[in-house]
Amino acid sequence: MTQDELKTLVGQAALQYVVPGEIVGVGTGSTVNKFIDALAALKDRIPGAVSSSEASTARLQALGIRVFDANEVGELSVYIDGADEIDGRGHMIKGGGAALTREKIVAAQSRRFICIADASKRVEVLGQFPLPVEVIPMAAARITRQFAALGGTARLRMKDGAPLVTDNGQQILDVTGLALRDPLGFESAVNQWPGVVTVGVFAHQKAAICLLGTPEGVQTLRYEGA
Ligand code: 5RP
Repeated sequence: MTQDELKTLVGQAALQYVVPGEIVGVGTGSTVNKFIDALAALKDRIPGAVSSSEASTARLQALGIRVFDANEVGELSVYIDGADEIDGRGHMIKGGGAALTREKIVAAQSRRFICIADASKRVEVLGQFPLPVEVIPMAAARITRQFAALGGTARLRMKDGAPLVTDNGQQILDVTGLALRDPLGFESAVNQWPGVVTVGVFAHQKAAICLLGTPEGVQTLRYEGA
């Protein structure tokens, strides 16, 4: 099975967690796109979605699914999103699609995070995937030095020859060379650095369940304490 087929498999499997009559939280990325496409079949059974990016909003709306502002609604039952890496406790690296800030906001507004991922995303220790960090531009150089002091190398994410600008008008640093053995402590620490908008470690907003796409089918992994 190709990676794309595994993404389709978990995108469809996530439909079982959508609660009829309730608004669903929707993440961002190629795996979530498969979920959004599958969600179209249920669109008459839910009021709509809260979206984590302009890209997902456009896809949802194109399929006739209403998108609510996060401030218009209360707590959501479920948030469904992909990950760049997920460890054995449900901690994740996210932000490969530059949507980490809104993803964390919608995840925090939701009771359960359902992660959908192909098997390549499952790791023992987070950190092989470059860690995305959304930053206020004037702080980028100082934050780069702070990561260097921890042994990490931060690079400004570029797009079409210019620094990438997020949906929130900020920039992304991608940090390599870190092994995140204490994701919760690391997330808490980096969140305190002035100029950091969001660090792409999702340990405080970890997954409750991961639907992992494998050649043998979808494995359901459950995590304690989420
Ligand atoms: C976007 C994300 C995505 O969930 C993550 O990058 C995984 O994407 P994909 O499903 O395309 O592999 O965090 O900011």
